[in-house]
Amino acid sequence: MAFCSACGWLVLSLIVAVLAQVNCIDIYYQWIVSLDYFLDPLGGSKPVITINGMFPGPLINSTTNDVVHVNVFNDMNEPMLITWNGIQQRLNSWQDGVSGTNCPIEPGTNWTYVFQTKDQIGTYTYFPSILMQKVAGGYGPIRVNNRDVILVPFPKPEAEFDLLIGDWFRDDHKLLRIYSRFKSSNSYLDEPDAILINGKGSANPESLTVTKGKTYRLRISNVGSVFSFNVRIQNHKMVVVETEGSYTNQITLDSLDVHVGQSYSLLVSADQDDADYYIVAAPKLHEANETSPLIAKGILHYADSVAAQPAGPLPEGPDPFDLQFSINQAKSIRWNLTAGAARPNPQGTFNVTNITLSQTFVLHGSKGEIRGTPGYLVNNVSYLTPDTPLKLADYFVNGAGVYKLDEFPTHSVKDAADYGVSVVSGTHKGWLEIVFHNDLAVMDSWHLDGFGMHVVGYGDGEWTPAARETYNLYDPVVRSTVQVYPGGWTAVYVFLDNPGMWNLRSQHVKHWYLGQQLYIRVHDDDPNPAKEKPPPTNLLLCGIFATSPSPAPAPQAGG
Ligand SMILES: *[C@@H]1O[C@H](CO)[C@@H](O)[C@H](O)[C@H]1NC(C)=O
Ligand SMILES: *[C@@H]1O[C@H](CO)[C@@H](O)[C@H](O)[C@H]1NC(C)=O
Ligand SMILES: *[C@@H]1O[C@H](CO)[C@@H](O)[C@H](O)[C@H]1NC(C)=O
Ligand SMILES: *[C@@H]1O[C@H](CO)[C@@H](O)[C@H](O)[C@H]1NC(C)=O
Ligand SMILES: *[C@@H]1O[C@H](CO)[C@@H](O)[C@H](O)[C@H]1NC(C)=O
Ligand SMILES: *[C@@H]1O[C@H](CO)[C@@H](O)[C@H](O)[C@H]1NC(C)=O
Ligand SMILES: *[C@@H]1O[C@H](CO)[C@@H](O)[C@H](O)[C@H]1NC(C)=O
Repeated sequence: MAFCSACGWLVLSLIVAVLAQVNCIDIYYQWIVSLDYFLDPLGGSKPVITINGMFPGPLINSTTNDVVHVNVFNDMNEPMLITWNGIQQRLNSWQDGVSGTNCPIEPGTNWTYVFQTKDQIGTYTYFPSILMQKVAGGYGPIRVNNRDVILVPFPKPEAEFDLLIGDWFRDDHKLLRIYSRFKSSNSYLDEPDAILINGKGSANPESLTVTKGKTYRLRISNVGSVFSFNVRIQNHKMVVVETEGSYTNQITLDSLDVHVGQSYSLLVSADQDDADYYIVAAPKLHEANETSPLIAKGILHYADSVAAQPAGPLPEGPDPFDLQFSINQAKSIRWNLTAGAARPNPQGTFNVTNITLSQTFVLHGSKGEIRGTPGYLVNNVSYLTPDTPLKLADYFVNGAGVYKLDEFPTHSVKDAADYGVSVVSGTHKGWLEIVFHNDLAVMDSWHLDGFGMHVVGYGDGEWTPAARETYNLYDPVVRSTVQVYPGGWTAVYVFLDNPGMWNLRSQHVKHWYLGQQLYIRVHDDDPNPAKEKPPPTNLLLCGIFATSPSPAPAPQAGG
């Protein structure tokens, strides 16, 4: 019988217990994370992070409310963590796998994540979250399937493919992370050497085999560190159906822009002649000709095709510098308010037309120097990662000695750039508006752990409250990662119903690693463990707690 062990703690009443048994099952993975010195897709000697020998790593194939156990063995020579991008970790930021919530898994040791895909469906990815390891791989796909009782809002596809597409560097991530800290070499990590599809370069292209007349679901994610890309398939249309957990109004496109950290599901019908066709992912805001490794080339292969390879030129896409094309496309991606998702029709309860905002954060992402050292900034503050995870400090000592709550300016830009351990209060069960400004000359994308963001608006120049008049409050798409165009802003609404310590970050690895991040602490005064989970029994200790293995929990601030 599929009894869900880890659901036990959730369960307070017998009635809920019965439901829990019916609704969720435990699934188990055992991963060995290693560095492979022979696998570089560009034929070099860059070490690649593999999971069970695979790059990209294995699929996590779950269903809404499953409890996923991943026992991670760190076989590398440096510490690591894995984060589950877009999995909301309801009431359980202890499993989020970022430096503010977890002590690293040290080399030669293992640690088991246990998390529930509660009330979610959709397409996500996981990746290593510390030490810039993401530029060396270690990423993989996550699917959260609908439960059988909830209809998917399109006919069942013949098959599904996970397409993890991302930029790639020839250089070792350890060198890149050292170089990027110095003024003289800070341009390292700005210019990738290639874009890969499922870890493969154009020399050994990824190929998807389809049957004429059938329709397929392509789950496409941008697992890169720098480039947004435009994806397109020669002679084929694509229907957008899902973005990181929202079923969208189904729109038919020739090509789609996917920004760093984002995921989409597309339906593609094999409705052309039996042949081979190019799948192309081309960088945005960057020149690249047909032969450049910066244009990823995969193959859509019809099973009865006799062609040795696709014929003709690569499919043309929009001008990579035409940002208006991209903004218009982004605005056209809307939430399907009648489609059921995790529950029959949860959207009905999330109508944002008439909500009352509790808080607004206006955040400027920029680049600068802090006392002579290059860094990325949010409102002129560059996040400095403490040795002690914020979540542990919060739970055991109210943050003492690790961070001071609400020192970060959520509305203004400090007049001198500085480092800070930025932790801000989010009002539990309040609606938070976040306006992301991009003061950089490159694309940026922001991700919030723990929540979905209702993407209500995009604009140019300086945001003012008057811009709210332009918001789409009717059917904004909900997602975990949103792009912010250079010189522009993006506005989102977030319902802070998930207590915990949550990372808000640039998905661009260098921006993130060099300081463009902060944490939102959403606190529920009610100590009932059904509200927010206590630390897991296998909690790792480090930093100020390394030598006192079982600190007593401190009374919570305001509690
Ligand atoms: C994923 O799980 C679903 C539901 O259990 C199953 O139908 C499907 O075949 C699985 N897919 C893969 C690739 O394992
Ligand atoms: C490490 O792996 C062993 C063997 O699978 C397991 O029993 C143990 O619980 C794991 N340790 C942690 C901290 O997850
Ligand atoms: C295409 O770009 C590469 C550099 O990526 C360059 O070496 C090559 O000359 C270019 N080819 C054409 C036809 O412009
Ligand atoms: C929204 O989802 C429903 C199924 O719940 C589907 O019938 C309808 O076609 C979808 N609407 C759009 C615009 O895609
Ligand atoms: C909108 O909210 C206000 C205050 O919360 C309430 O008085 C009003 O009835 C609401 N309007 C609609 C159309 O729901
Ligand atoms: C959302 O609520 C508003 C009233 O507050 C209503 O006018 C609107 O039709 C609702 N939208 C949807 C999609 O149900
Ligand atoms: C941010 O800090 C820099 C350097 O300390 C300073 O020159 C700049 O004016 C600050 N930005 C704002 C908007 O005050």
